[in-house]
Amino acid sequence: MRVADVATRSIVSLPSRDAVEVIDQRWLPHRLVRARLDSVDAVARAIREMWVRGAPLIGASAAYGLALQARVDASDDALQRAAATLAATRPTAVNLAWALRRMLSRLLALPLAQRQRSAWDEADAIAEEDVAANAAIGRHGLALIEAVAQRRSGPVRVLTHCNAGWLATVDWGTATAPIYRAHAAGLALQVWVDETRPRNQGASLTAWELGHEGVPHRVIADNAGGHLMQRGDVDLVIVGCDRVSARGDVCNKIGTYLKALAAQDNGVPFFVAMPVSTLDLEVDDGLRGIPIEERSEREVTHVSGLAASGETVEVRLTPEGSAAANPAFDVTPARLVTGLITERGIVAASEGALRALKEGA
Ligand code: MRU
Repeated sequence: MRVADVATRSIVSLPSRDAVEVIDQRWLPHRLVRARLDSVDAVARAIREMWVRGAPLIGASAAYGLALQARVDASDDALQRAAATLAATRPTAVNLAWALRRMLSRLLALPLAQRQRSAWDEADAIAEEDVAANAAIGRHGLALIEAVAQRRSGPVRVLTHCNAGWLATVDWGTATAPIYRAHAAGLALQVWVDETRPRNQGASLTAWELGHEGVPHRVIADNAGGHLMQRGDVDLVIVGCDRVSARGDVCNKIGTYLKALAAQDNGVPFFVAMPVSTLDLEVDDGLRGIPIEERSEREVTHVSGLAASGETVEVRLTPEGSAAANPAFDVTPARLVTGLITERGIVAASEGALRALKEGA
């Protein structure tokens, strides 16, 4: 998508094939900082410290991490150790394990001499397939927005949580892809952007993206969504996901579950945008089977933002000595999900539909 009218991606494979360039998302929205990652350790650090984040982008970054490892040592042992390092960076988004499995199964089957070149090709393929999947999610999700537009005279009001935008993928985003398509098609929109405490990916990343695309939006406190739904000010909820279980339970950024409950109570359709790479058929019960990342207390006790001096500063919110808890994701049971918008169409959050979806691979 665009930044100041320039087409931009969250991760760029450099023609020299010795590094990738990413946006260091810790500095957004106030500074656009790019970083060059040229080793598996640099990629692992960037994922762990959330320079890059969002399930599909984590997967693509990890794939390039293995490709960078293959440049220096492509032996079975070195690739497997590098994959283990990358896999340990963040536990919840299944795209990470999915991308590493795909890379290893391709590379370990090849003679050593072919691995370096094939590794970069495969990482490029993962990145390009992500772009294509999200573009298709956008086409399928557009129909949902069009259906609302046909029965409403005002803008279609979509609520989204966290950042499932292009910054969380290679391009387009998942939850934002239908929004960008609808905007490009000339439909009037009003996007409610949950700020998404504690790291504020909605306020800092989704709002920034939408702004650069010219999509009308308003940032809301996380607690405002239920009230807006009760008032009839939300037509549709579209969120992303980090892992979807075989029976359709959706793991996504903390706070998603509360939005799904409010949507159910108010008859608001609750859709989840899901590339098939985010489906984990090995887990049935998402509530018990999906590991929930517990992040640093500091993300809750402190907040960062732009000071009047123009510098990004971090300040403490809570009293010294108050402990904090920081579960980063929650699980929305399948019964609260109206449908999953995938690159292959919109499907029910049910075991039958999801197994059939995967078999269509
Ligand atoms: O902790 P983050 O910022 O990586 O969490 C991101 C989310 O929860 C997104 O909604 C999810 O990864 C989907 S991204 C298309």
